[in-house]
Amino acid sequence: MPKFYDVIVVGSGIAGLSFALKVSEAGYRVAIITKKNSAESNTNYAQGGIAAVTSQTDDVEMHVADTLDAGDGLCDEGAVREILKDGSVSIDELIKRGVDFSQLGDGRVSLGKEGGHSKRRILHVRDMTGKAIEQALVNAIEISENVDTLEHYFAVELITSQKIGKKGQAIPDTNRVLGLYALDTQRGVVETFRAGAVLMATGGIGQIYQYTTNPFIATGDGIAMAYRAGVEVQNMEFIQFHPTAFYSKDSSDRFLISEAVRGEGAILRNLNGEAFMYKYDERKDLAPRDIVARAIDCEMKETGARHVWLDTRDIGHKELLDRFPNIYAYCESRGIALEKDMIPVVPAAHYLCGGVKTNLNSETSLSGLYACGEVACTGLHGANRLASNSLLEAVVMANRGASAVGKYLEQNVSEESDLPSWKDGDVRDSDERIVLLHNWDEVKRTMWDYVGIVRTTKRLERARNRIQTLDREINEYYWNFKVDESLLELRNMISVAALVIDCALQRKESRGLHCVLDYVDKLDDAVNTMTRKY
Ligand code: FAD
Ligand code: SIN
Repeated sequence: MPKFYDVIVVGSGIAGLSFALKVSEAGYRVAIITKKNSAESNTNYAQGGIAAVTSQTDDVEMHVADTLDAGDGLCDEGAVREILKDGSVSIDELIKRGVDFSQLGDGRVSLGKEGGHSKRRILHVRDMTGKAIEQALVNAIEISENVDTLEHYFAVELITSQKIGKKGQAIPDTNRVLGLYALDTQRGVVETFRAGAVLMATGGIGQIYQYTTNPFIATGDGIAMAYRAGVEVQNMEFIQFHPTAFYSKDSSDRFLISEAVRGEGAILRNLNGEAFMYKYDERKDLAPRDIVARAIDCEMKETGARHVWLDTRDIGHKELLDRFPNIYAYCESRGIALEKDMIPVVPAAHYLCGGVKTNLNSETSLSGLYACGEVACTGLHGANRLASNSLLEAVVMANRGASAVGKYLEQNVSEESDLPSWKDGDVRDSDERIVLLHNWDEVKRTMWDYVGIVRTTKRLERARNRIQTLDREINEYYWNFKVDESLLELRNMISVAALVIDCALQRKESRGLHCVLDYVDKLDDAVNTMTRKY
């Protein structure tokens, strides 16, 4: 008999944990399946903070306007308004769960500024906002009665009524999710789970790129799984490259240097020491991210440089240490003292604006399957996400999804009953690990070289050919050997890379984060200036 829960949550970042807390508080039995330890997530590394309207001088319509402007005409305005209006309530909830947002000396909450925001509206816990949120939520889960947390369990495949039908049993009227298979990575055994509903909260896909700010967990598993189950996925071409990751020539690690540092006055300079953002946008260093990342890319191509500089020298030693202790310590460990040296920075893959399509109840196109957080695409971000809107979206949509799942479970009673068990391929472990490693590298390099900040149709087509070959290889390989975590991740990365490329080739325009030189006539003047240099 499979293990049975009312709700299975895949992922333990801000989205999964917030949802699990709400659903368990409503009395449902919940399992959280997470592939590493609970805290390991993109959430844990978030620096700048969480955007919400909490000050008297701000209002939700201004936040809406900034979000729409950053999204470059592709946001769903209704979704933007609905999600952002819940901002301050969600912040209050996080505070109740134990998040201690930074305050000014007079006791008012400290509000940061980032690119594209017309107001200071970013609540933060110094420069370790994600860690503080993650810890508070993990602590709350630990004392929650209705939740089992299964660490080191890797969700492999969704089980749907249609899939079972294909194996010879009666096909029910509607396709719906029945549960999932998950690999216990410490024992190497795939277990079967039955559930009334499943939430996909597996986060982003940064690891498909050679250089990314994302930790190793970000391999797009949830999107790949949902897509294989026939669930709608959209806007995958909109990959956000963060403008400022620490450049290191000896390593592919890309530690983030938060945009909040520019919010406090840091400026970008090219290798000649010249500030350059004024040439690209009147908001200069605090323009939306797509513009700043393209401008840096352009300056680097023009001068043949491997990085640009971020100049923090005017901010002041005390403020740097108080506000950015984590960034300060990292830079110091790399021999950079922020009060007197400049930081070498480059853009790196950071965030996926697209994903599993959901409505405003976090419902996907498959009955009983919910998605929220970075894995989901609600319409909030459009063609480019406004800074610090991601953590906010995750909490708001987790709460909305949790209310909806309660109603779904009332109408769709699910009970403990059998499901087909997982059938492994050959029980042998593969002796071709080295091929697997090469394929990982090839995916990451292909995406970086051909599906980056500035694209062309020809390069996208070249990328498609390479990824298709890898896809054929992995599918053959996958079925021949016993599955393990790296094989499953590689398979998912290849699927997701293919989706990014397909969506990119289908969008026959340049918009937001999807900058294609073939459609340059549709770009604005600043980008036109840039493209002459490519
Ligand atoms: P995650 O927090 O990534 O959690 C995903 C979870 O799913 C993890 O627990 C993972 O282990 C698990 N998982 C994945 N696949 C599987 C599988 N197959 N089986 C089981 N478990 C699985 N956004 C902001 O709004 N403000 C910021 O300041 C900010 N700073 C950032 C800084 C950095 C360095 C990075 C990388 C991102 C930042 N972002 C920021 C983006 C934001 O952190 C993420 O978009 C957000 O945290 C995503 O939350 P999530 O819960 O959807 O996913
Ligand atoms: C940052 O701190 O610059 C990251 C913020 C974000 O990704 O929203």
